[in-house]
Amino acid sequence: MKTTSDFLKMKGAGEKIVMLTAYDYPAARFAEEADVDMILVGDSLGMVVLGYNSTMPVTVADMVHHAKAVRRGAKDTFVVVDMPFGSYHGDVNETLKTAVFMMQETGADALKLEGADEVIPAIRKLTSAGIPVVAHLGLLPQSAGVLGGYKVQGKTAEQATKLLEDAKKCQEAGACAVVVECIPHQLTELLAANLIIPTIGIGAGVEADGQVLVYHDMLGYGSHHVPKFVERFGDMGNEASRGIADYVTAVKAGTFPAPKHFFTMKEEALDQLYG
Ligand code: KIV
Ligand code: NA
Repeated sequence: MKTTSDFLKMKGAGEKIVMLTAYDYPAARFAEEADVDMILVGDSLGMVVLGYNSTMPVTVADMVHHAKAVRRGAKDTFVVVDMPFGSYHGDVNETLKTAVFMMQETGADALKLEGADEVIPAIRKLTSAGIPVVAHLGLLPQSAGVLGGYKVQGKTAEQATKLLEDAKKCQEAGACAVVVECIPHQLTELLAANLIIPTIGIGAGVEADGQVLVYHDMLGYGSHHVPKFVERFGDMGNEASRGIADYVTAVKAGTFPAPKHFFTMKEEALDQLYG
């Protein structure tokens, strides 16, 4: 399993870090078999798996439930778990308690927290307690209401400067990597050049030290809105629709199950049954 120091080395060597989300056992296995470097159990699960229209309803219990399944499927991959909305904005000791619970219940390798500012003390607290933290800057889905929707962040010089300062503060507080979401690629380049820790981009250009995508988005699985920055590497949704439609047709037509799916009683037992 790769560790935080391997990710630093990869950045130093210019080797791209590949992160992918996963929310269940089979997805985790597929990711591990494909040599994904880091798996993220994202709170995006609220939208792509649970059918909510934001990440705000996702609870610590939801995150733990899914992260445990992912851990079982990817024993040898670095697993990062999102702390959900509202679980790290209170007293830092309370945040640490929640973080310890999430680490111990799930066997995760790191936790991810959105934002800087008032989140910096939490990053410092968790890191000093031995919990690797991945920061998350730019578009913060848990703050979409405050940001006024899901929009590109850091477009002005002033916002870009603030984002760079925030990223440095996260690094200084102990973050082992930073996810940057939906920012101009030139800002990503500036961040990657000015940080020691790896930047993992999503909708942030090719200049990031690594990339992350949401499993369901990149595999075309589901009926949720897919952002413009996603490349579709698969077509699982259409494959699922086709398979289910064929199943319905086959059952109605009586062509499924076929003899190869049957279990058969011996003649002798049949004779006894009918006398
Ligand atoms: O929840 C998630 O999937 C994320 C990624 C978009 C980075 O936080
Ligand atoms: Na998230």
